[in-house]
Amino acid sequence: MTVQVLIPDIGEANDVEVIEILVSQGETVEADASLVVLESDKASMEIPSPTRGTVARVHVSVGDNVDEGDLLLELDPEPETEAGNEPQPASESEPVPEPAPESEKENENENEQESEPALEIAAEPPSKIRAESSDSGVTAISLKDKGIPQVHAGPAVRKQAREYGVQLLSVKGTGHQGRILKEDIQNYVADRLNNSSDQTLPTIPEVDFSRFGEIELKALPKIRQVSARNLHRSWLNIPHVTQFDEADITDLEEFRKQQSSELAEEGVKLTPLAFLIKASVVALQKFPQFNASIQPDFKHLILKKYFNIGIAVETEEGLVVPVLKEADKKGVIQLAKDSADLASQARNRKLPFDAMQGATFTISSLGGIGGTAFTPIINAPEVAILGVSKARVSPVFNGESFVPRTILPLALSYDHRAIDGAEAVRMLRFLADVLSDMRRVIL
Ligand code: COA
Repeated sequence: MTVQVLIPDIGEANDVEVIEILVSQGETVEADASLVVLESDKASMEIPSPTRGTVARVHVSVGDNVDEGDLLLELDPEPETEAGNEPQPASESEPVPEPAPESEKENENENEQESEPALEIAAEPPSKIRAESSDSGVTAISLKDKGIPQVHAGPAVRKQAREYGVQLLSVKGTGHQGRILKEDIQNYVADRLNNSSDQTLPTIPEVDFSRFGEIELKALPKIRQVSARNLHRSWLNIPHVTQFDEADITDLEEFRKQQSSELAEEGVKLTPLAFLIKASVVALQKFPQFNASIQPDFKHLILKKYFNIGIAVETEEGLVVPVLKEADKKGVIQLAKDSADLASQARNRKLPFDAMQGATFTISSLGGIGGTAFTPIINAPEVAILGVSKARVSPVFNGESFVPRTILPLALSYDHRAIDGAEAVRMLRFLADVLSDMRRVIL
């Protein structure tokens, strides 16, 4: 006979929320094992199973609101397995029918196959079990806990666990008989935070997109997989802030174009990038906290006295960041040659391993492609990165009239743990001023 387990008398509470379902269809539960957890405004309560049995069907879902008498689940009762689990009186205050004779029980089992109406039983409320039917069978209910692993925790602890997203089953209780205490939740969270490799993020569900239309699977190159991991790591670990500014590079562009044609004859392509590297080095020398890394214990900033600039290069295989070493010791033409060589090696997959290491600051220049602004992701363990968008000719008011000027948009993302916003504004303004008048480099 299937037993219908109903929501018991839960005091004055009504419309109580189901916050956890502790069993699933097909699972065998012992008598008195917790089936679901309900939570009212004031308390949460576990509803125990009135009998040993197999869960035939769960009728509620997490988030449902239930009232006394609502159908919780259906159980196919199973005989008790241990000695000492003899039928117990449901409550001292309620008359208990005599146990049914064995012959009657056998008949009941035979009749299970027939379409006999299910027995309705209210699950045990905190202090008693209440039978909705006085039919035989009720007396076969044992309230004794059969020792199934259960979570023992009070409402406040359960609430705290939910707030922290902690699964109570994972927490070792240190209270009486393994009861989980608030301190146990706190210690569990502290342990997880200290062991960062153990941390998990809420995952984005895997979707079968073919349900909605045709799809194609494209393998991601190894480089893209590696850079995806690095970018994700930086994004998660570093509190990024991006500061924006603009440099008036009208004079610089005029100079660059003059030089470009001569240098082109020598096979050197002079783009704004070489000047950006030069100006960045000067800015890093003036603001050394941007040419740094944070010590893992957060007690020191490691200021680097060398200036190796990472250059983000777009390749067919994905983003690669070769490192232009000792940029402070090189002139603009050498910087132009070196950056072009590194970009070419990156695209031809000829970069030596050494050329991928030791950067102190990175430049991501998308200006050759376009865009007005973007927020570059810091290349950890560096603490800052410069993003460069496309220069445009804009009307600029000079106090008397609007004049056409070439304006270069700049974005500086920085690690807010190492750098304050005011420092970032000053650093980027200084960099823009250097680009506006490269004579500052020799000051
Ligand atoms: N504004 C306007 N024009 C610009 C410019 C800017 N900020 N930067 C470059 N240009 C121009 C160049 O002068 C060149 O013009 P020209 O051929 O008329 O002389 C053209 O754009 C193309 O330049 P490019 O070949 O890209 O050279 P570069 O030295 O500027 O850049 C790399 C070299 C390696 C940085 C670049 O090729 C690259 O890969 N950029 C992408 C970086 C990236 O993907 N970053 C994203 C990280 S999230």
